[in-house]
Amino acid sequence: MNFGVEIKGLGSASPSKIVCNEDLEQFLETSSEWIKTRTGISERRVCDPSKQENGLSLSLEAAKKALGNFAPEKIDLIIVATSTPDFLYPSTACRLQEALKAKNAVAFDLSAACSGFVFGLVNAAQFLQNGTYKNALIVGVDIHSRFLDWTDRSTSILFGDAAGAVFIERSDSEKNQLLAFNLRSDGSGGDDLSLKCVGGEYQAGKIEKPLEAVFMNGKKIYSFAIKTIPDLIAEVAHSAKISTDEIDYLICHQANQRILDSIAEKLNWPKEKCLSNISKYGNTSAASIPLAWDEFAETLPKECTLALAGFGAGLTWGSVIWKWKAF
Ligand code: UT7
Repeated sequence: MNFGVEIKGLGSASPSKIVCNEDLEQFLETSSEWIKTRTGISERRVCDPSKQENGLSLSLEAAKKALGNFAPEKIDLIIVATSTPDFLYPSTACRLQEALKAKNAVAFDLSAACSGFVFGLVNAAQFLQNGTYKNALIVGVDIHSRFLDWTDRSTSILFGDAAGAVFIERSDSEKNQLLAFNLRSDGSGGDDLSLKCVGGEYQAGKIEKPLEAVFMNGKKIYSFAIKTIPDLIAEVAHSAKISTDEIDYLICHQANQRILDSIAEKLNWPKEKCLSNISKYGNTSAASIPLAWDEFAETLPKECTLALAGFGAGLTWGSVIWKWKAF
């Protein structure tokens, strides 16, 4: 039996501390102008540990907004997409289950970097479509501020911290429905974007450097994104039996404004079709799509066709076409 899947709620959360480009100028050989013109980013949000801000606190805030009045004990499934968890274990999803008192939910994390939210949403949808579960909460959250070398201008200017969440339910509504998806991976590009765990050796008896900072070959990731994402969206639109022109808006991973503009150009779309809030948040990795979706939800037409597209480390990339009706 193949059931449908409906979006019932959206939510997001970002830390209170704002770091502007001008703040980075104080200790990096960079300029606000360079960052703005090469990436579209003006500022980003960064967790303040002294305020107990972390992956769990942002996930909880986003999840509560997405759930609205839905009783947490009725949640069947929680998937948290994150590559920068507060703990390697227990999973953020299990900690969120406890924080929400969602005692009947099965909960696990999913690691697909900046594609994590799209991978999580599609994964959760499978359980609903095949009838296993009636509902699912999917959270995308990343706290890159903890894993950056803040003296490396090629990465530290890009990332910000945030969480975004969607709550989905089994439904056969024709107006709010997952139409098609495509997920892809290519492990041969793994070295181009990485955050490496370096464990202590048994003989050494101590851990000198448990984690390296984020490494990125920016040019390669840029080329990969502008080449693969337009093709992927065209493929998913084809699976959904629509043309790319019938997509009203694209909510793409927010990595660089120039990537969004290039995707629009390749698909012969006006730039405005690729929704963007990168100037305020930077690249929030697994959070960027649900954060933008939540932020733009009120301004979207009451009924429209959305494409989501994520890409990032792995390499991973994925897209979903969703028939959307405002709730
Ligand atoms: O979420 C995961 C996916 N991540 C991405 O999609 C990121 C994709 N990549 C990018 O967005 C871009 O490649 C970057 C924003 C990372 C870099 O932009 P770029 O236009 O590719 O710059 P570049 O690396 O080609 O560097 C151009 C110049 C270089 O100087 P020279 O060699 O021309 O003298 C860099 O050293 O800009 C210099 N540069 C900077 N200058 C000031 C690099 N970073 C900076 C900086 N401030 N922060």
